[in-house]
Amino acid sequence: MIIDIATLFPEMCGRVLDESIIGRARAAGKLTIDCHDIRAFTEDKHRRVDDSPYGGGMGMVMQPGPIYNCFRYLCRLRGVRPHVIYLSPKGRVFTQRRAGELANMNNLLLLCGHYEGVDQRILDEIVDEELSIGDYVLTGGELGALVVCDAVGRLCEGVLPDESCYTEESHQSGLLEYPHYTRPPVWMGRPVPEVLLSGHHKNIEGWRRREAVKITLRRRPDMLAQAQLDKSDIEYIDALKRAQPDREESGTT
Ligand SMILES: C[S@@+](CC[C@H](N)C(=O)[O-])C[C@H]1O[C@@H](n2cnc3c(N)ncnc32)[C@H](O)[C@@H]1O
Repeated sequence: MIIDIATLFPEMCGRVLDESIIGRARAAGKLTIDCHDIRAFTEDKHRRVDDSPYGGGMGMVMQPGPIYNCFRYLCRLRGVRPHVIYLSPKGRVFTQRRAGELANMNNLLLLCGHYEGVDQRILDEIVDEELSIGDYVLTGGELGALVVCDAVGRLCEGVLPDESCYTEESHQSGLLEYPHYTRPPVWMGRPVPEVLLSGHHKNIEGWRRREAVKITLRRRPDMLAQAQLDKSDIEYIDALKRAQPDREESGTT
């Protein structure tokens, strides 16, 4: 997988991408993620990449020319036209499902806007999809690009030690994940659930499944409609609803 990021602030992305699992995967050659400075592709003698909006109004708009030159350069460099994603608050909200689909592609180009955004004509000319990382407005697309790189990168072959590292995770499985515990067995008077110390794998599996169903029901009941639930999950949900019919949660247990 090759991901190219086109940005006015390449150092901002580079630093983050050098760290942790993604940094190690890049160093080991399992993942290529390169940042490209759009300003290097301007033909303006003052290296300008933006201008005021036609029609008036506040802010600046990124010009299409430098972005297009950067895109053409990357097509030549990679020998292929990448799937081009513009990070934008107007885009479709990025999900784990989309991360999985993108992880199956070979070449992505993530375009980061800044200021008021980019000239619409470059979107019409080269962009395949617009992705938002949430319903809020950031100053630039760089944080969004990093989110996409991280979520997609960790799903690429060889980045995590094993597929099982992510198959049970929140959103991947259709449910939020069960809680985790590690040593010590009792901390601040709070013991680890006994079943986890039992060594009984079937019981542990059953407990984890019920905890995943329970936390999803409480925090994200909307997800249950899409989740693959078996008969015992449904019976458990009914029992939870009967026990606490009006309980609502939003983020903490
Ligand atoms: C200040 S924003 C521009 C917002 C734009 N004027 C609007 O109202 O839709 C600057 C850049 O940040 C990025 N950005 C802002 N919010 C984002 C979000 N929620 N998801 C992804 N990218 C975002 C986009 O690349 C955008 O071009």
